[in-house]
Amino acid sequence: MSIGVEPSTSTGLVDSFGRVHSDLRISLTDRCSLRCTYCMPEQGNVWLSRSSILSAAEIAHVARVAADLGVTSFRLTGGEPLLRVDLAEIVAQVAGLRSGGSPVEVTLTTNGIGLAERIDELVAAGLSRVNISIDTVRADRFLELTKRDRLADVLAGIEAAAGSPLRPLKLNAVAMRGVNDDELVDLVDLALAHDAEMRFIEQMPLDAGHVWDRSTMLTRDEILTVLGERWSLTPVPGRGDAPAERFELDAGPSTVGVIASVTAPFCGACNRLRLTADGQLRSCLFATDELDLRGALRTESLTDLDRDHEIADVLRRSVGAKKAGHAIGDPLFLQPVRGMNAIGG
Ligand code: 5AD
Ligand code: SF4
Repeated sequence: MSIGVEPSTSTGLVDSFGRVHSDLRISLTDRCSLRCTYCMPEQGNVWLSRSSILSAAEIAHVARVAADLGVTSFRLTGGEPLLRVDLAEIVAQVAGLRSGGSPVEVTLTTNGIGLAERIDELVAAGLSRVNISIDTVRADRFLELTKRDRLADVLAGIEAAAGSPLRPLKLNAVAMRGVNDDELVDLVDLALAHDAEMRFIEQMPLDAGHVWDRSTMLTRDEILTVLGERWSLTPVPGRGDAPAERFELDAGPSTVGVIASVTAPFCGACNRLRLTADGQLRSCLFATDELDLRGALRTESLTDLDRDHEIADVLRRSVGAKKAGHAIGDPLFLQPVRGMNAIGG
C-alpha cells in the first residue's frame, strides 16, 4: 500500500549524476558478536544508546517510503543483524512491501553466528538471500582476526544457509596481505562445497581504529593472479550496478567475485543509500555527513502524511547531495568518523 507520498512527487531517487537509487542498506545495530580487526576495536567501543536505535516499526516506515520512491532492494546489515531479536519481524515487514507494483527483495549480510537456529524463521518471514562473511577457515587465525573463538559457529551458519532455499548464496572475505592471502583458494573451495560464490573484497579505510594502510590491502589484480594459478578465470558479462566483478572458474558454472572498491571503484554505477541503526541517512559509505531521519520518525506533532513527506524529503536531499565518488586515493581523503560496524556494509 502506498500512502503519503503522492504519485506526482514520487519521481524516484535520482542524483545529480543521473544515478537512480534502488537499493537501501539498513544497519540494524552497531553491535557485533565478533571484533574483526579491520572493522572495530576489541575494547573501548562506545555503542549507540538503545533508545537511539530504530524500532522494527520505524525501520519498516522508512522502508515503505523508500519503496514508494523506487527502492526495490533492501539489505539488512550491522554490526551483526542476528543480534536483533526482532530480525524476523523486520524481514517480514519489509518483505511485505511493493515497489512499482512488484515485491521488493530483502537480503541479509551476516557473520553467520546463530544463523543455523534462525534460518527457517527468516525464510518464512520472506528473506530472499543471505551473504555470510568469512575471512579464514583456520580456527587459530579466526580467533586472532575476530578476537572470538567462533569459527565453528560461522561454519554452522554457512551449512544452514546451504541447506536452505536461499540462493544465490554468497560468502564474503576481506582479502588482507599477511593475514589470509594464503587462503584464497581454500576459501573458494569452501564456497564451492556449499554451492556458494566466494567474493573477495579489497580492504577499505573504514576501520573504527583508523589504522588502514594501503600496503596491507590485497588488490584485485593480486587476488586474480593467485586464483588464476588454480583456475582459468573467464569474466562474466553483464555486471550492471553490482559491486562485484564475477569470473567463471574453469568455464563455470561456478563463479568467484572480486569487489575492487579501492583500486577499481564502481561509484559511477552506485545505486545505494544507507540508513544507520540510529536513523541517519548516508548517501555513501564514505560520506562525511548524514541526514537525520529519526527526528521525522519521532516528532509526535507530525501528521502521518507530513511524516511521510518529511522522510521522502530527507531521502531526496541525501541523494541530491551525493558526491560522484569516494576519492580514497586523494591525499585529502578523510575517513568517515564512524566505523563499518556503525555504517552498515
Ligand atoms: N573493508 C572492506 N570490507 C569490510 N567489511 C567490513 N569492514 C570492511 C573494510 N574495512 C566487510 C565485512 C562484511 C561486509 C559487511 O563488509 O567483512 O563482509
Ligand atoms: Fe562484526 Fe562484521 Fe565488523 Fe566483523 S566486519 S566485527 S562481523 S560487523
